[in-house]
Amino acid sequence: MATPHIACEPGDIAELVIMPGDPKRAERIAKTRMEGARLVSDVRGIGAWTGTIDGVPMTAMASGMGVPSLSIYATELYSQFGVKRICRVGTCGGISKQVAVRDVIVASSAHTNSSVSTIDIPGVTLSLAPSFDMLRGAVDQARASGKRVHIGPVYTSDFFYSSRMDIVPALEKLGTLGVEMEAAGLYACALAAGAEALAVLTVSDHLFDGSGDLTADERETLFQDALEAAIAGLKA
Ligand code: HPA
Repeated sequence: MATPHIACEPGDIAELVIMPGDPKRAERIAKTRMEGARLVSDVRGIGAWTGTIDGVPMTAMASGMGVPSLSIYATELYSQFGVKRICRVGTCGGISKQVAVRDVIVASSAHTNSSVSTIDIPGVTLSLAPSFDMLRGAVDQARASGKRVHIGPVYTSDFFYSSRMDIVPALEKLGTLGVEMEAAGLYACALAAGAEALAVLTVSDHLFDGSGDLTADERETLFQDALEAAIAGLKA
């Protein structure tokens, strides 16, 4: 039974989903890291690729950009396709002075200006956090591989181009590691579904030190580090 945004049968989607933002990245994960990958849905160019990774069935499917787009796919995957775990693998802008471009961040919580934290229960701001088991699996893999990995809060913003950059120093003071646009939405969808989620992010630019501008090759190699941590989190 297809949903409005995913045109396949529930059995076509694996219980474990790797979710980059970019559909081209989902395709690349399928073609370079999966065995037997097949395209099972392609609504709006958001390809869902199902195969196995290290013998474990997984689907790679993009979220698109921002909480609204991600929440459509995550909600349909959890509620209609029997998905148990989704791991976002994406990029973020560095906020903390502790993090540098090229580092990996595992988001142990997500602050947000999106309504996902306040809309479900009037008067309550939900704490949006990942699955502990997934977090542990990803962190163990990342640490064992020797890469620079940080575990802490990120800020999920509804705006890439914000008129309120003045709030960033306050976020930095509270130990926020980086800014991106989807993690809080994913954690909220997992909460609502009674399912599990995690976000593993590569720092692609830094809001304070102006560094960044990774080459295309570098982006790809770095992305591999975050991808391997994400796969470990899904399998944990
Ligand atoms: N802002 C929001 N999302 C991002 C950024 C950023 O600076 N960098 C990578 N994803």
